[in-house]
Amino acid sequence: MKKLIKNNVSWVGKVDWELQQFHGNEFSTNHGSTYNSYLIQEEKTVLVDTVWMPYAKEFVENLAQVIDLNEIDYIVANHGEVDHSGALPELMKLIPDVPIYCSENAVKSLKGQYHQDWNFQVVKTGDKLDLGNGKELIFVEMRMLHWPDSMATYLTGDNILFSNDAFGQHYATEKLFNNLVDQCDLYKEAMKYYANILTPFSAILRKKLDEIIAFNLTIDIIATSHGIIWNDNPMQIVEKYAQWAGDYQENQITIIYDTMWNGTKNLAEKIAEGIGLTDPDVEVKVFNLSKSDENDLITEVFKSKTVLIGSPTIGGSILHSIAGFVHLMKELKFKNKKAAAFGCYGWSGESTKVLNEWLEGAGFEIINEGLRNQWNPDDAQQVSAIDFGKEIAKA
Ligand code: FEO
Repeated sequence: MKKLIKNNVSWVGKVDWELQQFHGNEFSTNHGSTYNSYLIQEEKTVLVDTVWMPYAKEFVENLAQVIDLNEIDYIVANHGEVDHSGALPELMKLIPDVPIYCSENAVKSLKGQYHQDWNFQVVKTGDKLDLGNGKELIFVEMRMLHWPDSMATYLTGDNILFSNDAFGQHYATEKLFNNLVDQCDLYKEAMKYYANILTPFSAILRKKLDEIIAFNLTIDIIATSHGIIWNDNPMQIVEKYAQWAGDYQENQITIIYDTMWNGTKNLAEKIAEGIGLTDPDVEVKVFNLSKSDENDLITEVFKSKTVLIGSPTIGGSILHSIAGFVHLMKELKFKNKKAAAFGCYGWSGESTKVLNEWLEGAGFEIINEGLRNQWNPDDAQQVSAIDFGKEIAKA
């Protein structure tokens, strides 16, 4: 399958409709994904990125149907992670001498993964590759967005930025372009992708966006490596990234809990009631962690100005589900967000103290000591939980 994007540039990737988990089981992909690979056929023929390893054979067979593989002059590997480089071993068996243009770090990652000494051509920001017909590729290192080896490639003449992971979404579709799909689904997946993968690198991203803007390149199309291609007002996603990279938050408070016998659940609901009574404008959302998709919850945290985390006390500490989630939030290095803890207990009641320590360690500003409730909340304790919610709304 080859789908035309513009002039002599085509999509030759793979739509993975059934993908439900990515990065092992770290990232849920409820809308599947795509691995976008691109073929540029000017005087020189270039393949930009490949697909994930399980689809390597299918990819190479498909590619061989649309082009004589021996006509490929150059390969560009914008990023070494296996979802984009996974078909290289299969492909390089057939065209072993074709040069692979990539960053210095990509040589390390590709050699480290595939143990092959292919014909690597190291490029850095500003380096160019002439394709004939007045067109050239310009390389832009995208270090830490999201790997140290990441790179983007710009095609002059057609003004296409092959951005690799940046601006992508895990979103399977037969439609190629952003204006042809459900905008709500598209932006939900784009934000989830940013929140779960790029949040830790927001400061780097802010600088990189400034650097790309300073190049003064006309960008007509942003051809990502996952999901749709931004061809209709492509700068809309760049503007969104600039917003998201600015320690983004909406007027939202998110309450996330796990519960053993529904006491902590009861607190969560009463706290939400108190917030709603005090600030009708704020969006309050409540989630039982064990019944939710963790990566969707990370998106909710990303949107929140305040996060409340609830766990009953168990073993003098907190539930392992909550511990895992706080760890995930810590990895993502959220900035400029407040937090508070709550939880029921029967005997010793350490959960709020432990949660406060962990949340502080995860970079949140702790609002107060938290709400610590012995046994299941009675009427008076439920009123206290509502009051706690009111206090949070005012904080
Ligand atoms: Fe889509 Fe970092 O790989």
